[in-house]
Formats: sequence, structure tokens, C-alpha cells
Amino acid sequence: MTVDQVLERIRAIRDEAVTEASGAADADALEQVKVRFLGRKSELIAVLRGLRDLDPAARGRVGQEGNAAKTAIQDALTARADAVGSGPAEAAEDPTLPGVRPPVGHAHLISSTLDRLLDVFHGMGFSVARGPDVEDDYHNFEALNMPEDHPARDAQDTFFFSDRTLLRTHTSPVQIRVMETTPPPIRMVFPGRVYRRETPDATHSSEFHQLEILYVDRGVTMRDLKGALTYFAHQLFGDDLPVRFRPSYFPFVEPGAEVDIGCFGCRGTGCRICGQSGWIEILGSGMVHPSVFRHVGYDPEEVTGYAAGMGIERIAMLRHGVPDIRLFYENDVRFLTQF
Ligand code: PHE
Repeated sequence: MTVDQVLERIRAIRDEAVTEASGAADADALEQVKVRFLGRKSELIAVLRGLRDLDPAARGRVGQEGNAAKTAIQDALTARADAVGSGPAEAAEDPTLPGVRPPVGHAHLISSTLDRLLDVFHGMGFSVARGPDVEDDYHNFEALNMPEDHPARDAQDTFFFSDRTLLRTHTSPVQIRVMETTPPPIRMVFPGRVYRRETPDATHSSEFHQLEILYVDRGVTMRDLKGALTYFAHQLFGDDLPVRFRPSYFPFVEPGAEVDIGCFGCRGTGCRICGQSGWIEILGSGMVHPSVFRHVGYDPEEVTGYAAGMGIERIAMLRHGVPDIRLFYENDVRFLTQF
């Protein structure tokens, strides 16, 4: 071979080695490239070893080209080693590695909160019924002691389909539907979606969920109401918190009371959660009004009962520190997966 042919051969080896190195699939393949092109038995190393047999003029040129090729190949090997990493490609298929758990969904916070509420009432012997979202004026208002022009109708701005048909503004109409078709005693809860014409903000939504509670029998008193709702509040928010019944007005009960629990944030001293009052309202309640019983054909001289209603989102917000009701409906998985 002439000197020029040797130089030509060195460049060809360099190019082939660099191509092979940069195409190597993993660390093993890279090692094979290294052995083949820079190993003791490789052609390039043999050429460099034979330098001393060449005449001095050729020795300089071939040595220079040979060393340049060696450096180029080493650089290509190093660059590729960074890209493929140190382990063999098959590592991902190691059967002894722990499996990859596929993402699995779970109940929405509104559903899991409702499940918890139902658990507590199941424990007290209550069963579950449901009523329609699309109601009529009679069941949503009239039979609940809110005749036409009753001012309490204003408190619940209503979505109407027509004069008499509307989206229910609370779950209380289910009380009427159940009592219309079922003789007493009744010990039931009614979960469902309710609708109000409201401007959405952190604590208001035009669609939300309620749980209604109804217990009717002979001899039911305010004491039963207080006992059941206190037990319920303790189950949900903790045994050690005080529960208070604060007189309030709802047309379909008499007397009516709102139920507060002692603030779990400050234990009564006043903080941001309770608006400095030390108390947090959790539901509305009262003894079923005699005129409601008359509307469903029950005799108010024979039976008495208590009713209560609560917002499910509100309960969930309090239990989990959710700051904005709109988070429930945006379905951002970063929010939902936290519960
Ligand atoms: N229906 C009432 C509301 O939506 C709550 C309530 C239910 C109050 C039963 C008393 C008794 O505000």
C-alpha cells in the first residue's frame, strides 16, 4: 500500500466506526464497537503499532492521521454512552421489577361525601329515596307551606320551565312525594341535585347537592331531632366539638333551627374558617309543620316528625378544607385525585 492508500484506509475506518458508535442501541452494543475498532486486534491499532517500520516522512503523516482517527472514535463512543445510559436495554423487561400500576379512578368527592352521610343515617335506621329534579310548583313550594306570594319564595331564586314547572330549589319536595305515597312511620333520607338562580362564587353554585332527612312517627319530639342531628354532627366532624341549635325560620317547619358545630379551626375562639364567630352552620332543620302533614293527608294530631336538609358540597368543603365550590365541577384531576 502507498502512504496515501494507508491514509485513505484510516479515514474509512474512522468514518465507519463513528457511524457504528452513534447508531449503537445500548451500552452492550457500544462496547462491541469499541472492541472492534479500538481493541488490541483492531486494524487501526495494528496500523499505529506498525509505524516504526515506516520511513520517517511517512511515519509522521500516518501517525498524525491515525491518532486523529482514534480520538474521533473515542469521542463518538463517549457521546453515545451518555445517550444510551449505562444499563443494557433489556433492563426495562426485568421480570423481577415491581409492576407498573395503571391509573385507576375513584369516586368523586361529592359521591364519597354522600356515601359517608348515608352510612351515618343507615346506622340510625334510615333508608334512601329519590325524587325528580324537574318539579312542579305544588311540591317545591305550595305543599311545603309556601303559597303563591309567600315571601320565602324569593329566598330561593328559581329556574322555571313554565308557570308551574321548575327545577327544584331544594330536596324538601321529596318529603311531600314520599308522604303522599307512604303511610307513617317514615325514617328516610333523600339525596339529590338542586338548582338556584345564583351568581356563582366561592360558596355559591347554580347547581349543587343536598341531603334531606325525614322522620315521622307517633310521638316524635324536638328531643329526637336534637339527639339524631347531634349524633350525626359528631360522626362527621368529631365527638369533641359542641353542637348548637339556633332558632331559625323555614316555612315548612315549626319550630325551625339551624345547627352549628363548634369551629374545628379555632375551637371557639374565632378564626377565618368560622368568620370569627367560633361556630359553623352545617344544616337547617325543624319539626314538620302541621300544614305540611295536612297537604299529604297525615293527621297532625296523630303524628309528628322532624326534617333537616344540608348541602353536600358544604359538608365536603368543611371536612376537607376545600376553599371554592367551583372546584367540584371543573373536573381538574389535580384536584380530584387528592381525595
Ligand atoms: N330545604 C331547606 C333549604 O334548602 C333546608 C331544610 C330542610 C330546612 C328541612 C328545614 C328542614 O334551605
